[in-house]
Amino acid sequence: MAKIIVLMGAQGAGKGTQAKRLAESLGIPIVATGDMLRATAEEDTPLGRQIRDIQAAGRLVSDSVMAEVVSRRTIRDDCIDGYILDGFPRTLPQARLLEEIAADQGHQICVIEISVPRELLLKRLAGRRTCSSCSTTYNIYFKPSKREGICDLDGKPLFKRSDDNEEAIAKRLALYEEMTLPLLDYYAELDYLHRVEGDAPPEEVSERIAEIVSAGEQRSAAEG
Ligand code: AP5
Repeated sequence: MAKIIVLMGAQGAGKGTQAKRLAESLGIPIVATGDMLRATAEEDTPLGRQIRDIQAAGRLVSDSVMAEVVSRRTIRDDCIDGYILDGFPRTLPQARLLEEIAADQGHQICVIEISVPRELLLKRLAGRRTCSSCSTTYNIYFKPSKREGICDLDGKPLFKRSDDNEEAIAKRLALYEEMTLPLLDYYAELDYLHRVEGDAPPEEVSERIAEIVSAGEQRSAAEG
């Protein structure tokens, strides 16, 4: 059965980093709601301006907008064999919507929580820099580019996300604890939840995630 792999974890846990690695190894797409919303925010439309303000302040976009964004994206053909969700669901209504989407598509949900201590999250977010052209992520503390502010791969400038400032980071982490942490209990009760320690180099975290995904595949195959 095709899978929806949901990567969960606080901001800076490494969901985006791991989603890219997993997508390459499994050959399925990433549905990253933050990236999709950032693309919409660049448009000079009322919705674009609204999303830009919400993201910069570290608040959450409404569940109704998210329902539209995710439903439209996941009915595309490239999602037939499964996909990786990064940044969705973040609230209980979003989790319920995902159950409906999964049932309609005949996909199984597998949730992987990446757990990282708070001090490390703060450093990862404050140090994150992203290429303005190819979106490769660097970190001035853990994975600096060779030339400061310039992407190693294409020589384009790196930028710091507008919500990676102290005030927005505090708001985002508080919202995660209030709105998203309860989803872990919800998924534990459904027996969908797996947990990996994310306080290790990206390759090691990837190996831990790959083990969970492959154990799930073997279980599904054994169940027929
Ligand atoms: P979104 O884009 O989803 O961002 P986020 O949740 O704030 O998560 P981050 O991207 O900050 O964290 P990450 O875990 O992906 O970290 P990364 O891998 O980059 O959402 C942004 C906004 O959009 C929200 O605030 C909201 O407004 C809106 N939104 C999105 N989805 C929504 C939804 N469903 N409902 C409502 N609103 C929504 O890693 C961080 C850094 O750490 C990088 O520098 C990286 O190089 C480094 N790093 C990663 N892993 C390691 C490692 N193992 N060792 C050392 N360094 C590492």
